[in-house]
Amino acid sequence: MEKREIKSSYSVYRLDELTDETKKLIEYAQSKLKDAYAPYSHFRVGAAVLLENGLMLGGSNQENAAYPLCTCGERVVLTYAGAEYPDVEITSLAVAVKNDLKIVLTPASPCGSCRQIIAEYQSKQKAKIKIYLVAEGDEIYAIDSIHDILPLGFDASSL
Ligand code: THU
Repeated sequence: MEKREIKSSYSVYRLDELTDETKKLIEYAQSKLKDAYAPYSHFRVGAAVLLENGLMLGGSNQENAAYPLCTCGERVVLTYAGAEYPDVEITSLAVAVKNDLKIVLTPASPCGSCRQIIAEYQSKQKAKIKIYLVAEGDEIYAIDSIHDILPLGFDASSL
């Protein structure tokens, strides 16, 4: 038997430690919280991507009375970028969360389905997508590559 280890890490920043560009991206994701359609969970997710051409795109979670059809904020903004700018690299993704019913201090990490979708866009462009996660507390989590939070993931090489 051989045991294989997968190492991963993430960084924790305070806002004043980030570049102006990253701060702007996070603020853009936060500005999208108001557009979330979350009447069922009351959990708002604002997401923003920075493209290599400098453009920022935003999105938010969009829920449905048929719960499984709820679409996550990450997925909305990534598919928007993929549909509207298919040949422009996605440099980074920022995700902000807010619960209308209570204060959430700790950033929320993308759900498993969104991780798979981030992984797809990352492998499509063959360049890492940096991920920034923020809630209402001081800490901002930064993840260098989706592989850090989706170890041993499924991809096209298995097909
Ligand atoms: N949600 C996201 O938008 N992103 C995630 O990564 C996790 C969950 C949304 C889906 C649903 O509208 C609400 O948050 C509660 O699950």
